[in-house]
Amino acid sequence: MKPRDRLRIAMQKSGRLTEPALELLNRCGLTFRQSRDKLFCFGEGEPVDLLLVRDDDIPGLIAQGVCDLGIVGRNVLNEFKGTATDGAAALTEWRPLGFGRCRLSIAVPQEMNYAQPHDLNGMRIATSYPALLNGWLKAQEVDAAVVTLAGSVEIAPKLGTADVICDLVQSGGTLVANQLRETEVLLQSEAVLAGPEALPTDERGDMIELLLKRLDGVIQVRESRLLLLQTSRTSLDAVTRLLPGGPQPTLLPVAGQPDQLMLQALCAGEVSWRQLEEIKKAGAREMFVLPVEKMLA
Ligand code: PRP
Ligand code: ZN
Repeated sequence: MKPRDRLRIAMQKSGRLTEPALELLNRCGLTFRQSRDKLFCFGEGEPVDLLLVRDDDIPGLIAQGVCDLGIVGRNVLNEFKGTATDGAAALTEWRPLGFGRCRLSIAVPQEMNYAQPHDLNGMRIATSYPALLNGWLKAQEVDAAVVTLAGSVEIAPKLGTADVICDLVQSGGTLVANQLRETEVLLQSEAVLAGPEALPTDERGDMIELLLKRLDGVIQVRESRLLLLQTSRTSLDAVTRLLPGGPQPTLLPVAGQPDQLMLQALCAGEVSWRQLEEIKKAGAREMFVLPVEKMLA
């Protein structure tokens, strides 16, 4: 294949990952001109183009060198790595992206007795992830028949084409609707940035490194919250002890109230109502949780 001077990123054409993936790339400073068929989007600012494809095709496109990177579910990436396809082993997960969270699970009909993996011996398990399922069955020393289906896995037990299933679960709604019960989690999944283990040695490699740095900044900011509150000096220790992770808080005086302090802390993740209520009990008031838009240390 001829070397390219522009980076090419593959992502899902339409589905649960499409919107958040595009937003993430935008936040990294990548914008695209939408072409009419929307299969190929030319990058406007940076030399980075997008290829919009079926998610299952993404790992293969990277392995063949058609694309340099891909945004894809860990479930799809690992399934591909589990096949013996050329180049599959050399693919790697560069960054977890924090959206599209779901899990690959075994689910059985509600009325079926299930206590442990060995209960699956002799059963037929329907799945779209045969490599991942076979790997798990082998590790558990379970002897079951894997029935590979492209979709509609959840109705296989009703149709009688399988006894149990191994499928993606997000809210659990699909399982409930089909009277199935989740019994084992094989894989916790989310969207990841996938690429070859060895970066290209030309300009594309430099561009990937730049993109990874921007991505790290965007992910860090996305998960940061600024917590503001007021506390008395006497409650300060108790309040500080309850602050969710992150660097030391900043303390500011409150005009006209020498006993009071304004506290400002950068927190590494969500701050829940529960946490706020606990901090309030310890003596804090006037509490604000703010999202962080940009950060430059
Ligand atoms: C997935 C999966 C389940 C459903 C689970 O299908 O195959 O059917 O989502 O989600 P839930 O737990 O929130 O109900 P998806 O909608 O991604 O479509 P596809 O797998 O058929 O492409
Ligand atoms: Zn799919």
